[in-house]
Amino acid sequence: SPRDANGAQATMTKVQVKSTRTPAQLSAIEAGEAQLPPRLGVETPHSEALIQLFETGLDKWGIDIFKVDELSANKPLTSVVYAIFEKRDFFSKFCIHPSTLVSYFSQVEQHYKPDNPYHNAVHAADVTQSTHVLLNAPSIGNVFSDLEILASVFACAIHDVNHPGVTNQFLINTENELAIMYNDMSVLENHHCAVAFKLLQNPGSNIFSQLDDVERRQLRKMVIDMVLATDMSKHMSLLADLKTMVETKKVAGGCLLKLDNYSEKMQIMQNMVHCADLSNPAKPLPLSTQWVTRVMEEFFSQGDREKALGLPVSPMCCRETANVEKSQVSFIDFIVHPLWEAWTELVHPDAEDILNTLEQNRDYYCELSAAK
Ligand code: CMP
Ligand code: MG
Ligand code: ZN
Repeated sequence: SPRDANGAQATMTKVQVKSTRTPAQLSAIEAGEAQLPPRLGVETPHSEALIQLFETGLDKWGIDIFKVDELSANKPLTSVVYAIFEKRDFFSKFCIHPSTLVSYFSQVEQHYKPDNPYHNAVHAADVTQSTHVLLNAPSIGNVFSDLEILASVFACAIHDVNHPGVTNQFLINTENELAIMYNDMSVLENHHCAVAFKLLQNPGSNIFSQLDDVERRQLRKMVIDMVLATDMSKHMSLLADLKTMVETKKVAGGCLLKLDNYSEKMQIMQNMVHCADLSNPAKPLPLSTQWVTRVMEEFFSQGDREKALGLPVSPMCCRETANVEKSQVSFIDFIVHPLWEAWTELVHPDAEDILNTLEQNRDYYCELSAAK
């Protein structure tokens, strides 16, 4: 009936997000009376220690992001983004009021699910900080505009928002509402983007309100292009693009050249964010092992649900039969290492240490699996 059709349409077009502000707060914001947020944008009894940690670690590969989670009173994403925006002078460059930033990213942070062992705000903070470090590589020092850097940092912060803790394939197989909404195509990645842009529309939350229309349109396109490229089904073609760029000598004397057209620049940005998303195996071992525990726990929960539903159990998802160490070696050998190898070549010699760490971690897991 027509009523059903309308009902279905309402469900399909509505991205559900929550506003967390009281009417009093909203009118204060609208009256321009918003107060400055606390330092680093988070209320925490450990703000001194957190400031200290960022002073020594924000620009370094392998900051203890789990410590950031602890010291920020479980607001790792808001505090990391705040620190990066301060460091990069984005508050003044893009006329963003600090309380608008905090308002927006607190909501983003709340839309990451804390019960996911892996796809939670700590992962988002990790990918954001990792990209912040990659952007500092001297060889790509002058390649990106401020707007492109803003888009990259933003894309990382939102790239898994509201992740349900199961894969695209699971959502498709179970005919989940999201799979229906996005016709089985990059279901999660479309959802992450939609949630993030929807939250920008909440009162007092549009961190891009001071950009002009052209900039806002460009930024939106870049963010969507980057987040959709985090779909693992795009991995092979992204990597192929990256290899082509490396081979056709877009790099010379440690400097990236001729990156003036959008598509070439975007390929680099997509690969950079994808590298950061796949950077947990390339982090110092104590961090890397924690991520493995988390990602495997999430996979195993999915496996439990697949068993309960009588669905075939996805690769790496059966807690009884999985060989965690061996699957890490394969994941590194077939996916992560080829990507990081190409990236390292692109930014030579800036990512040499990262590639070395990845190779050491690979050997660590290989020895463990041989010892079993
Ligand atoms: P997501 O963060 O959405 O995108 C990258 C995916 O790679 C991630 O989800 C996981 O599904 C997968 N992934 C990341 N790290 C690991 C790991 N250490 N072992 C196995 N799979 C991983
Ligand atoms: Mg993702
Ligand atoms: Zn991710």
